[in-house]
Amino acid sequence: MSQQAHSTVAVTGVTGALGSRIAASLAERGVPQLLVGRDPDRIPELPGAQRRGPAEYADASAMRTALAGASTLVLVSGRPRGRRLEEHATAVEAGRAVGVERVLYVSLIGAAPTATYRNARDHWLTERFLAGSGVRHTIFRAGIYASTPAALADEDLLVSGPGGNGRAAFVTHDDIADVITAVALDEGPRSEHDGATLEVTGPEALTLEEMVSRIATATGRPYRYVPESVEEAFARRWRQGADGVRIESWISWYQAIANGDVSAVTDVVQRITGSPATPVERAGWWPEPKTAG
Ligand SMILES: NC(=O)c1ccc[n+]([C@@H]2O[C@H](COP(=O)([O-])OP(=O)(O)OC[C@H]3O[C@@H](n4cnc5c(N)ncnc54)[C@H](OP(=O)(O)O)[C@@H]3O)[C@@H](O)[C@H]2O)c1
Repeated sequence: MSQQAHSTVAVTGVTGALGSRIAASLAERGVPQLLVGRDPDRIPELPGAQRRGPAEYADASAMRTALAGASTLVLVSGRPRGRRLEEHATAVEAGRAVGVERVLYVSLIGAAPTATYRNARDHWLTERFLAGSGVRHTIFRAGIYASTPAALADEDLLVSGPGGNGRAAFVTHDDIADVITAVALDEGPRSEHDGATLEVTGPEALTLEEMVSRIATATGRPYRYVPESVEEAFARRWRQGADGVRIESWISWYQAIANGDVSAVTDVVQRITGSPATPVERAGWWPEPKTAG
């Protein structure tokens, strides 16, 4: 454990896959933390960390109480519910009101108002909010998670959708957490990462067929990718009872891959952590089928 004195970092989303990894990684390095969650009973217990909450991003008062004492806020984005800009902006303003000086925000690769992947659009709004807020900040555009195809698989381990032969630079949660940890530890009054947008990707761009086949090899289970047309995909999900918003979000994930929108490979993991990005088959964690949100 590092003997260096660190300033306090607040981490949100610590009951989830990414925030829990960031919190564990900062704890290993001796960083004092405030772990913020909606359900304090589910917040992990870590050395040097206080558990704070319940605090929901949209609850300014609860967020102010939860973030008091932190100088850096790692803001893990919430679920896309149509109010993410308001939720994230409220969380940031609450932090600033109680002394947060720097925000590290987890955005999504390809964030843009017209992004093919529907869930990337409102990340762009939060990015714009941060750019105009005057607060020190770094934006981490997380690549498409290596874990997601496993979570999208059905009970027969089929990953079906309109991804065609497009590619994505799938990235592990651990690599994203390591990049954010390294930037959080860059604690001077200025950082070369202030104002930066870092696109955190895996080491290569894979088709869904390649990615799913690597999950099959890694798990020893017969996962398989089944390409569908947009029409077939829509009809199947509609018959399964999914609503329009969910169908749009789900189909657009595949379409972003089909279009090559999320295929660029960057050197961010290597450059920031000093280690190469992890090959996806070594992700070490695969969610159960049918667990995609
Ligand atoms: N790059 C990609 O491919 C990709 C894929 C999926 C999602 N994402 C985005 O990346 C984020 C982190 O991913 P993950 O794998 O860690 O997701 P996850 O396991 O679902 O965790 C999400 C975390 O955010 C918290 N949270 C959600 N909405 C909140 C709110 N309104 N107020 C306070 N806390 C809230 C959750 O708290 P609870 O435990 O209380 O729900 C949970 O701790 C996701 O939330 C999503 O925005 C990216």
